[in-house]
Amino acid sequence: MATYKIAVLPGDGIGPEVTAEAVRVLRATSKSSGASFEFEEALVGGAGIDATGHPLPPATLALCKQAHAILFGAVGGPKWEHVPHEVRAERGLLAIRKELDLYANLRPAICFPMLVDASPLKRSVVEGTDLMVIRELTGGLYYGEPRGVERFADGGARAVNTMVYTTREIERVARVGFEVARKRRKHLTSVDKNNVLVVSQLWREVVTSVAKDYPDVTLDHVLVDNCAMALVHRPTQFDTIVTENTFGDILSDEAAILAGSMGMLPSASLGNLAGAGGGPVGLYEPVHGTAPDIAGQGVANPIAAILSAAMLLRYSLNMTREADRIDAAVRRVLEQGHRTRDIAARGDKALGTREMGDLVVQHVERG
Ligand code: IPM
Ligand code: MG
Repeated sequence: MATYKIAVLPGDGIGPEVTAEAVRVLRATSKSSGASFEFEEALVGGAGIDATGHPLPPATLALCKQAHAILFGAVGGPKWEHVPHEVRAERGLLAIRKELDLYANLRPAICFPMLVDASPLKRSVVEGTDLMVIRELTGGLYYGEPRGVERFADGGARAVNTMVYTTREIERVARVGFEVARKRRKHLTSVDKNNVLVVSQLWREVVTSVAKDYPDVTLDHVLVDNCAMALVHRPTQFDTIVTENTFGDILSDEAAILAGSMGMLPSASLGNLAGAGGGPVGLYEPVHGTAPDIAGQGVANPIAAILSAAMLLRYSLNMTREADRIDAAVRRVLEQGHRTRDIAARGDKALGTREMGDLVVQHVERG
């Protein structure tokens, strides 16, 4: 029987609450799959700063490096906003991405039929949305050098971040884009700012040349400002989107609105290194962040974390059947009308985090 080691990094805010439900759902799958999981928890983000002074303590990084996959909650919050930039809670996440070379971030945004009315956008716009944003995750403005602030004697200052990409960095994420599109509706949209940025000109050139290896996939190029508009105007025109780090950060939050709530969106961050689980080592996290306003109240929606656990099974462990089982369980629970507060219509009874987790666990166990 296979045993997989999963590093669990709950982090801050609602991270621990939702991650606990994802762990329970993973445990529930092991009854039918025969695979077992060894969960090991470690500190990250503000929790890491409080305990060790560091947002990514060395022990956490070591654990991540030897795990088959990483289940991540969320990091950051008002408490750590005033610490120096280099030890902000968010640096913990950015450092793991870089250290493990998790360069491709997959963020699916699906508007489930039973949640069309949960989105603030019109039903006629969001209905049928099923897209995947692939965000480059280890390059661009987030890591580019030079970076920093110069303070002048007159009180003024000058701050610099650098958007930089190499051919190799663009090519490898473009390939992920084409491979993913190939398994979907075979339509890839590359998003850039080619009319202004030289980085985008290189981006477009490289993506176009990689396209020659994927004649079965239709490629188009869209400018990022236009894409931002099209996402809330006609989201169903998109299948798979591939874009650089900062554009992807922004567009994926926008896409969350199409799914009704941030509380519904999972993500996978993948590198190339084949892990012992068969697939690439990956980090799996809900897109929603720490939500400090509701942390500790037991009302957060655990579905994004649970769907992230399903992505973990699918991509890092090649356990497709169990991943499908979790996805189906979530759909069934929603079809039956169960809602957490963020997706509840007026008059619906809102379930807590644990109750929603219980229902998904029950459906997974029943198959
Ligand atoms: C995300 C988040 C992070 C990012 C933050 C927390 C550093 O917004 O994963 O989208 O900007 O990448
Ligand atoms: Mg973001």
